Amino acid sequence: MAAMLAHEVKNPLSGIRGAAQLLERVVKGADQELARLICGETDRINALVDRMGGFVADGPLDRSAVNIHEVLERVQRSAEAGFARHVKFFNDYDPSLPPVVGNRDQLIQIFLNLVKNAAEAAPRRNGEITLKTGFRQGVRLAVAGREGRVHLPLMISVSDNGSGMSDEIARHLFDPFITTKSGGAGLGLALVAKLIDDHGGIIEFDTNPSGTDFRVFLPVYTEMETEEGLH
Ligand SMILES: Nc1ncnc2c1ncn2[C@@H]1O[C@H](COP(=O)(O)OP(=O)(O)OP(=O)(O)O)[C@@H](O)[C@H]1O
Ligand SMILES: [Mg+2]
Repeated sequence: MAAMLAHEVKNPLSGIRGAAQLLERVVKGADQELARLICGETDRINALVDRMGGFVADGPLDRSAVNIHEVLERVQRSAEAGFARHVKFFNDYDPSLPPVVGNRDQLIQIFLNLVKNAAEAAPRRNGEITLKTGFRQGVRLAVAGREGRVHLPLMISVSDNGSGMSDEIARHLFDPFITTKSGGAGLGLALVAKLIDDHGGIIEFDTNPSGTDFRVFLPVYTEMETEEGLH
């Protein structure tokens, strides 16, 4: 349904954009500016619709044993080459960490969104991001909406030395369209929360004026879990 709607929005949108581009060539002065505005805004709606597509499950996903360190290294590499060029990364990895059961692409997406927020929060000078992993054998958590206690021994944290966030933002952090950024859609963390939930995990955070720390807890890969057929 949502995928169909996205399709139906994008088609006329590309028509509008094309028409505005043609107009931009024939009109003059201030009117050209208006035509460019239409193009820019249609691009924005287009990108928004694409990102909303991330919330739509397209049938069961491939799940397998995923090495979370490999995921984090990949995320860090692409961050360092792009949006996090100004940031110094620190790694504190637990080498004994067993694989997580999950979808590799979605796990990359989760940590890319968290690292992007961390990079945007970190100061332009001396910005720091720490990626940390740990294994908490035997810890069981009570998770809202789930029976009994769940075993989520894998911990992955993304922390930054930014200036934290207000209580108001923190209260609604995982809701869609919550943003303090001029060009932000406010979809990053809403998508992170949904994907972690799909993985049977949870996310929590601490924030204060000297930085923010997001911690993700995930189930570990076992043969039994695959037999139960997570989907
Ligand atoms: N590490 C962080 N430090 C400080 N504030 C943060 C951090 N991560 C998120 N926030 C706050 O939470 C808001 C929502 O984040 P979210 O990723 O959902 O959206 P966004 O980054 O604003 O836009 P988008 O991710 O869609 O481009 C941000 O605008 C910011 O105010
Ligand atoms: Mg974001």
